[in-house]
Amino acid sequence: MTSSNASAARAEPLLPDAERFARALLDWYDTYQRDLPWRRTRDPYAVWVSEIMLQQTQVARVVDYFTRWMERFPTVQALANAPLDDVLKLWEGLGYYSRARHLHKAARIIVQERGGRFPRTAAEWQRLPGVGPYTAAAIASIAFDEPVAALDGNLKRVLARVCLVETPIDTPAGTRILNEIAQSLVPSYRPGDWNQALMDVGANICTPRSPQCLLCPVQTGCAAMRVQRQHEVPRRQPRRKRPHYTVTAALIWNDAGQLLIAQRPHDKMLGGLWEFPGGKCEEGETLEACLQREIREELGIDIEVGDHLTTVEHAYTHFSITLHAFHCRFCGGEPQTLGVADWRWVFPDELDAFAWPSTDAKIIAALHAAQPVGKPKPESEDEP
Ligand code: ADE
Repeated sequence: MTSSNASAARAEPLLPDAERFARALLDWYDTYQRDLPWRRTRDPYAVWVSEIMLQQTQVARVVDYFTRWMERFPTVQALANAPLDDVLKLWEGLGYYSRARHLHKAARIIVQERGGRFPRTAAEWQRLPGVGPYTAAAIASIAFDEPVAALDGNLKRVLARVCLVETPIDTPAGTRILNEIAQSLVPSYRPGDWNQALMDVGANICTPRSPQCLLCPVQTGCAAMRVQRQHEVPRRQPRRKRPHYTVTAALIWNDAGQLLIAQRPHDKMLGGLWEFPGGKCEEGETLEACLQREIREELGIDIEVGDHLTTVEHAYTHFSITLHAFHCRFCGGEPQTLGVADWRWVFPDELDAFAWPSTDAKIIAALHAAQPVGKPKPESEDEP
């Protein structure tokens, strides 16, 4: 790489010696690496599943999901043969559900179009759904020893400090500079361990706010530590405020004590998961009017809105919501799939068999707390 790229108008190149850097890092990793279930194998299927689960998700949260997944779907063939609903149910609570849909779709591609053979290079892995440059590099380096750097947030932070990169790391320019640095440092031997060692350094030592530089295996090669500027880098762009929405959900009861549930469209956020239908309130609209409009638009039926059940706050990556859930009475007609993938009438004790977003799982918990499972909601004069 060129020093003008790496050091962004700074005179001296601040790259450490690649060989010394790799040796120090790998020696440290041999003693201090985290013992994680996906590190006990180099089976490409297990490595792939773990890397998809680890996208935007903490290691501690992934461990149990990964173990359960490998018991339920031990091979790519088992995954390809499973119904999508089973895959989504196992993923329930892990978030970013398109990851599960993509894993399932990619498993079918591997089995049906590649005769069960996994890609070997990062470039080939990237052709599968759900596999971006970072994940492709992680899998190819760990499972197939391809010398490619897997540049995630942890690696970016560590390398921005090691090379004192002043360009904000969440910009295309910052990513390009760090990619070049990472690619110039990754060794031809043990590239997967090199990537995972940097992940561990980023997770436990070179942390965002209180880096433990004296414990760091690459402290002697670190330009930020040399000038005591480890708290100033990496830089980030100022954050834009997340928009907030008011959203409603309807627990629509029929006279048999069943609830109407809807499956979210497969190509939308949380696609394939089940929910209590509803949607975003428009400017100046009451919660009741919002529910009636949304249910008419999505399912083509009329409802009467009754008692409030619960309110749930939730923050997604790009926006946050306040979700108001109401008991409602079904007023007749046949539900249609106008804005939903599917719909069902189910008894309250059947709800747990479906895969739900965390917001709707909280509504179900509130429902079960207010009304023991299996008993239909009691009729009363003044309630819908
Ligand atoms: N984050 C992403 N991939 C990881 C891995 N292989 N080990 C630990 N943390 C990770």
